[in-house]
Amino acid sequence: MSELNNTVLKILGNGKGILAADESTATMTKRLESVDVPSTPENRLLFRETLFSSSSMKDCIGGVILYDETIKQTSSKKNTIPKLISDTGSLPGIKVDTGAKILAGSPDEKITEGLDGLRERLKEYYKLGAKFTKWRGVYNITKNYPSKLSIHSNAHALARYSALVQECNMVPIVEPEVLMDGDHSAKECSEKTSEVIKRCFEELIIHKVDLKGIILKPNMILAGDKSKEKITNEEVAKLTLECLKSSVPSEVPGIAFLSGGQSEIESTENLNLISKHNNTGFIMSYSYGRALQQGALKFWSKDIKDIEGTQQIFNHRAKMNTLAAQGKWSKDLEI
Ligand code: 13P
Repeated sequence: MSELNNTVLKILGNGKGILAADESTATMTKRLESVDVPSTPENRLLFRETLFSSSSMKDCIGGVILYDETIKQTSSKKNTIPKLISDTGSLPGIKVDTGAKILAGSPDEKITEGLDGLRERLKEYYKLGAKFTKWRGVYNITKNYPSKLSIHSNAHALARYSALVQECNMVPIVEPEVLMDGDHSAKECSEKTSEVIKRCFEELIIHKVDLKGIILKPNMILAGDKSKEKITNEEVAKLTLECLKSSVPSEVPGIAFLSGGQSEIESTENLNLISKHNNTGFIMSYSYGRALQQGALKFWSKDIKDIEGTQQIFNHRAKMNTLAAQGKWSKDLEI
């Protein structure tokens, strides 16, 4: 087994998933301000350190995606943050894209940037302890979008990024996110997601990326948030499995979903059904940001010194999602 494949299995094996704590400072500021906590480097660290020192890290969280600020911070016990994470048995990872910018030629769409100087930045992150990385491409569904240009250019960037990451002995998370914003149907979401993912794999193969050493981080197949169509969780699972089975090459070891604005329970319930009916051969798990942190953040904001209470909320969510990744979750386990 290759070293990169081994890293993937360490992150996603035994129902473990990924905590996406890689919000940029601007996004984290929005999250903190929404619960009336000032966004200082100390507060951002305190919340994140609270999660990273939770007991569920050992059995549930196989990897944590960090942001540049956090990977360079030191914990209250004077450990580096990557060391704090690896001491729990989890692996530290890092977001390396520099954000989605307006796409020249199609100004309503976005292209993710960050390739310039990436090889040097990767070496630095590797030295700081990172074992895997993340890059997110983002696509909107409307009548005319995502355009061929956006599908092609984001796939190209994801492939160049992945090749550089593997060259530096880390596992790239390949995240093409088709947003749920809009009034599109689940069928449209499935068609567009399939087109986006297939194009990504064409480019990954051209760029000689070892598919056994990546993690795909896709959206689930959902109707748009403004769509009148209401589909059941069973249908979400069925459509998601069909879409991924037909667009992801079988060499890929693992798929870890983003939550994308679904509620905590919804994203757990959908993952549970996906795992229960999983006939794809891929490990299916989670790489959630909001769906793992929302409840904990809300609780913490009432008393930022209540570490234990915050950890209890986070531990519960992590445990529920790890059960869901094994198809063993049920609603009556929720508190
Ligand atoms: P959400 O689970 O909140 O969508 O975040 C996951 C992520 O990492 C987005 O890039």
